[in-house]
Amino acid sequence: MHVQLKRGSLGRLRTPLLCVPLHEGESVRQGALAELDKACGGQISAATRAGDFTGKLWSQVTLYNSKPAGPRRIQLLGVGKAGSIDLERMRQAAARAVAKAVELHAREVSILFPRNSTYDDGHVAQALAEGSVLGEYRFDKYRTEKENHSELEKVSLIAVERVDRSAAAGGVEDGEILADVVRKTRDMVNAPANELTPTEMAARAAKSAREFGYRCRILERRDMERQSMAGMLAVSAGSDQPPKFIVLEYEGAGRRAPRYVFVGKGLTFDAGGICIKPAPKMDEMKGDMGGGAAVIGALEAAARLELPARVVGLVPCSENLLGGSAYRPGDILSMANGTTVMIENTDAEGRLILADALLYAQRYKPQAIVDLATLTGAALIALGQVATAVLGTDRQLVHDLKKAGERSFERLWELPLWEEFDELIRSPIADIKNSGGKHGGTITAAAFLKHFVKDTPWAHLDIAGTSYLDKAEGYRPQGGTGVGVRLLIEYLRGQIEYESDADADVE
Ligand code: BES
Ligand code: MN
Ligand code: ZN
Repeated sequence: MHVQLKRGSLGRLRTPLLCVPLHEGESVRQGALAELDKACGGQISAATRAGDFTGKLWSQVTLYNSKPAGPRRIQLLGVGKAGSIDLERMRQAAARAVAKAVELHAREVSILFPRNSTYDDGHVAQALAEGSVLGEYRFDKYRTEKENHSELEKVSLIAVERVDRSAAAGGVEDGEILADVVRKTRDMVNAPANELTPTEMAARAAKSAREFGYRCRILERRDMERQSMAGMLAVSAGSDQPPKFIVLEYEGAGRRAPRYVFVGKGLTFDAGGICIKPAPKMDEMKGDMGGGAAVIGALEAAARLELPARVVGLVPCSENLLGGSAYRPGDILSMANGTTVMIENTDAEGRLILADALLYAQRYKPQAIVDLATLTGAALIALGQVATAVLGTDRQLVHDLKKAGERSFERLWELPLWEEFDELIRSPIADIKNSGGKHGGTITAAAFLKHFVKDTPWAHLDIAGTSYLDKAEGYRPQGGTGVGVRLLIEYLRGQIEYESDADADVE
């Protein structure tokens, strides 16, 4: 599916469906809307006059145009009170237009570029493109009968008023790239574990790197042995699938530019190991690589957007199963930095492989390390499926990430990383243990990770609640959401802007 920007008069527009976003009390008697109303024989003003359409948030009516000119159908879409429209609402509106078009089996949908004085046209266009392309996503690869299949080929954004065309065209392009990457990320999360093994995940990352011109290296088990990656070796021991440690490097800026390292948990299936999980919903643990998929996506997006930045992506990939050589509760691991870890629960495996990756990250001497992981069920208990938990050692980093969260609407909520929580992961026979019990589970997991980052500014994002949805909501489908990709790109954009401002100050 493709998004394009089009200029034109609504009264002469030939399209199977035109979506007109309208806020409460918005007049349809002036300008382009009056012309459209006239072209369709006054149906729009009739609908508002009858009170059938008021602009109330997400209310909609579909009108059929019997006149020869103009769109065949018009979807009036309520976007709520005037002044309350923001970029997220624009994403949501575009997704609703696309949903209608898919329902109608239309090949094209047109969306009226909304009037607004708060956001620049580039950001509006990006939001509309994101909402359209993400809203059209469905994972129906394994359905032999594709009943609700999308036949949509084209989304046209119709600019009738003063729209900054070059900014809007740039926004469309960025939005399409981001949404395409998020869809690939969702595909990885939704792929069953018999398709997406660590080997397959590494292959997809390598293919992306080849296609979009960034570096990819895959560390094998023997490399992990050499590097003393005790977490990876222990967690993967119970599976016949070989573990893979993916290293991605995107060099979009010169050697003196700061480096950012993103780390993503890549558990292609988490049965819990010897401390096996209960059967209900265990199938969803095929999605325990959501953080890793988001990191691969962020690297691909950075490359395709040609961001002037240096970014490294590290994705430790493994299964957590229960074979004859599986690691056990009571085992003690010696990590690469010398820390000894007592295994209290084999289901707390994510932090073990992340520890290896966080230690590896430090060789890059990065400006900041950000890890993303479906790490704890406790994150779901605390924040539901609405917000990602953020914890970190650096105020500025957490602040910048939260800001990126607001902009991308992949919102973050901070939990405290106070030292009182360190007590909960102390072990009498090793330095630490891998489980802090059921109190403050998201925090004790982060307290564990903190042992492996030393002084580098670091933040941890627990996406257990936001990576996989029980129920579709707007442009987020049931299942894998691809959360993290747009957030990380927004974060990088913020850093780039800040660095260039700082450079300008020096000059
Ligand atoms: N992958 C799970 C966390 C998870 C749970 C993600 C539900 C998404 C939805 C993780 O490996 C895990 O099992 N964590 C344990 C940790 C505990 C044993 C300390 C948990 O949260 O119960
Ligand atoms: Mn687990
Ligand atoms: Zn897990």
